[in-house]
Amino acid sequence: MWVALFLGIVLPYFASAQQVNVTIFTESQCPYCTKLLREQIWPFYVTKPGIMNLQIVSFGKGDCTYDANRNFHCSCMHGQTECDLNRLQNCAMSYFPRRHLGLVTCIQGLKTLREAFSRCLSRLSARTQRKLIECATTQTGELLSYYSMVNTHRAGVKLWPTMYVNGVFFDRSYPVDQKLCENTDWC
Ligand SMILES: *[C@@H]1O[C@H](CO)[C@@H](O)[C@H](O)[C@H]1NC(C)=O
Repeated sequence: MWVALFLGIVLPYFASAQQVNVTIFTESQCPYCTKLLREQIWPFYVTKPGIMNLQIVSFGKGDCTYDANRNFHCSCMHGQTECDLNRLQNCAMSYFPRRHLGLVTCIQGLKTLREAFSRCLSRLSARTQRKLIECATTQTGELLSYYSMVNTHRAGVKLWPTMYVNGVFFDRSYPVDQKLCENTDWC
């Protein structure tokens, strides 16, 4: 009984201490963002599941304004396609709060919104596809992008990608998996 009590008190502490908080500020058309997500973050997520407590903020360098009807209009560093794909990424994260990394990584770095629809959404149900397409092409998605802009500005991010590990800026001078494994015993 005492052992059970002891474990009951101690294990949650260790469990929470082992997850690594990762925040990545990205934009859909920046090549190094694409490399980071495809070559480092996604493989780590697949091979070492459950370690990252990952937050992706997709906006980048740009701005959103709203008009007299409270419609948001965002502009993005790499043009309209970037805004389109950022919107779809933000919609994916909103519809799948816990399981969106595959979708976000798939959308990242593509050439058009249409390409993203056909390459990334095809395995989802027709209903989910419709919802995501609607979100990505309306004010719903633009508002989500606006929130990501606010997060990006608040963090003072000036370079993309920018990555924080347990709240500390990580300059990515060495591989991401090494950095994450330094912060956990689960590797
Ligand atoms: C990770 O994030 C959670 C929730 O924001 C926070 O409570 C916790 O202290 C963070 N852990 C570390 C090691 O920074």
